[in-house]
Amino acid sequence: MIVVRTVAALRDALRDRRAGAVGLVPTMGALHEGHATLLRAARSADDTVVMSIFVNPAQFDEQADLAAYPRTEEADLALAEAEGVDVVFAPEAAEVYPAGFATTVSVAGLIAETLEGAERGRSHFDGVATVVTKLLLAALPDRAYFGAKDAQQVAVIRRLVADLGVPVELVVCPTSRDADGLARSSRNTRLSPDERARALAIPRALEEVTDAAAAGTTDPEALRARAIAVLEASGIHPDYVAVVDPASFAPIARLDGPALVAIAGRVGATRLIDNTLIAPSGALAPGGS
Ligand code: PAF
Repeated sequence: MIVVRTVAALRDALRDRRAGAVGLVPTMGALHEGHATLLRAARSADDTVVMSIFVNPAQFDEQADLAAYPRTEEADLALAEAEGVDVVFAPEAAEVYPAGFATTVSVAGLIAETLEGAERGRSHFDGVATVVTKLLLAALPDRAYFGAKDAQQVAVIRRLVADLGVPVELVVCPTSRDADGLARSSRNTRLSPDERARALAIPRALEEVTDAAAAGTTDPEALRARAIAVLEASGIHPDYVAVVDPASFAPIARLDGPALVAIAGRVGATRLIDNTLIAPSGALAPGGS
């Protein structure tokens, strides 16, 4: 495994490997089992696996969150090596955003403006879209791997890849969960034992909505109310509980096809997100996230 810090060195490292498929797993480091799942998917499909580690300042809406974001490069490199990564691209901020940088990739419409876009501000998905575009251009992978936990991020990336004609296949891997159901996230390390226990209300709320939908509830407001009750019983006042169309992220009027249930909320000082796909009673399960 080699570690490169510049786009030029990354391109050099990949020059002789282009005859086979190149897979890119973009990360912000602080790797956990969820990232390992993405790396394994890439390892099994691609001849060369590239992983990027870059804590992208442009996508953080709060300076405190950026400052607190765990940086664990040594452990990340060990995990990458163990998962068979070939090339790690770990640039400094000045490599990604050199002096004079003035371009933003901005996806318009509900998929970027609602939910996380509304909570975190326009700049969040602009930051994600810009850095992912830069990473895709730097590595020019055949496939790029993302987790379904960040469903809205995936929708934004899908849009920009289609609109800009980026020649890459996006592979979306199911949300990786601890045995008790909590979605794996680099932010989980910030939870105290009590907060971690309370955070389990989030997957429980998603399960409650899934069960209610399967039992015949079609009113999105009734579904939201079920989730909110579960969350509030554990002291989580959600930023949102949304039942939306999985492609457009528009709120649905009635559950008559697959829908995405998305939850965000703070547990103590730590903001967590999670989601699942639901289907109306009698429909085939859409395959959860
Ligand atoms: O999901 C993440 O870790 C980040 O948003 C990504 C895709 C690496 C872009 O910084």
